Amino acid sequence: MSDQYLLSRQLDHLAELQTRYERALADNGYDSLLIASGAAPYRYGDDQAWHFQGYGPFLHWTGLAGQENAWLWVRRGEKPVLWLYQPVDFWHASPSLPEEPWQQFIEVRSHQEKDVPDLENTGRLAVIGDPACLGGAPGDHNPDELLRAVEETRVHKTGYEIECLAFANRAALRGHRAAREAFLAGESEFGISLAYQLATQQREADAPYHSIIGLNEHAGTLHYQYYDTKAPARPRSLLIDAGVRFRGYCSDITRTTPGEGEGRFGALVHGLDQVQQRLCDMVKPGVDYIDIHRKAHQGVAALLSATGMVSGLSDDSMVEQGVTRAFFPHGIGHYLGIQVHDVAGKPTAPPADAPFLRLTRKLEEGMVVTIEPGLYFIPSLLQPLMEGALAKHVNKSMLEELRGCGGIRIEDNVAVTGTGARNLTREAEL
Ligand code: GLY
Ligand code: MN
Ligand code: MN
Repeated sequence: MSDQYLLSRQLDHLAELQTRYERALADNGYDSLLIASGAAPYRYGDDQAWHFQGYGPFLHWTGLAGQENAWLWVRRGEKPVLWLYQPVDFWHASPSLPEEPWQQFIEVRSHQEKDVPDLENTGRLAVIGDPACLGGAPGDHNPDELLRAVEETRVHKTGYEIECLAFANRAALRGHRAAREAFLAGESEFGISLAYQLATQQREADAPYHSIIGLNEHAGTLHYQYYDTKAPARPRSLLIDAGVRFRGYCSDITRTTPGEGEGRFGALVHGLDQVQQRLCDMVKPGVDYIDIHRKAHQGVAALLSATGMVSGLSDDSMVEQGVTRAFFPHGIGHYLGIQVHDVAGKPTAPPADAPFLRLTRKLEEGMVVTIEPGLYFIPSLLQPLMEGALAKHVNKSMLEELRGCGGIRIEDNVAVTGTGARNLTREAEL
């Protein structure tokens, strides 16, 4: 896919956005909408600001994640206007603007102030964004119904968005390959993070989320957030969950690598990988995402039984009695887009057997989801199992041995097509 082709699709994306926004505005009785990109807040009691990543709807139009204090005005029947904050400032640089076709579709103006720009002929106006940045803006601030309608415009990705997500996958996989090599060469979590950043040419702060890089037991903390600077004496496993942001769009990929000589753990990684690919094959229009989550529990049960970690219980009863939840406590995934956990996934609450599931909708063409089953050895979840009524079914010595490997997660990004799915991660691995 050439850059030219990708950019040519950007104009179609914007035309589609204009249509979707005009409908959302009309349905909610508004004539125009001002979107604030936002600004990084300062740390409490300090003169240092948090690292900035802009507000979703602003990125949806512009792809500009680093533009603070910018404003985008979307109007029914008129060209959108973008005010970029470009003060004369010898302390900070203004981010440069890439030459891209969207500038034909949006009128760009320079703005010296952080405040709301002067607007004329707004009609009935709504303003959305971080309330901390909206002070003094006219119109209705963050009206609920309109916000929901704006979020809904992000659910079905345009062709351009899917290509951006595919690009973000290809870029992240370069990092995953480098991370794996660094692990096998004996690097620490910190060293692996540097290898990832170098290969992706992305600094940690610009990543869509804090990269999760866990060696050994750390792989069993779902959102492990530190980087040890010293490698363990015996590197047994690497779990890396890391993505790249490209023109605003995120990838969210997890790979698990066994250390040298970890045959049993390696077989489990292979087994979960096969389960994960079967789950990815379920993705198509009309499928209830919750059913993929439930199928994942069946797959984990089958693995627990095939390896002898749990015996004397059928797969169904392992799921019903919560055994699989002790090994796989999170949801099967979520929407992916401008935000790593993209919006509008939970119009209804998740069911009681999947409390952490972030997506409860039926799949439709254009949705992009993650498929990320896991199998972990988490002491606080396994302890009750090993000491409770089902203790006799659990192979404690095997669990003890595997505990030092932490756990496994395998995560791909999958786009729903008209008839099935496109696995944006696996296609880039080939
Ligand atoms: N990287 C966070 C997640 O997989 O949801
Ligand atoms: Mn994810
Ligand atoms: Mn992830």
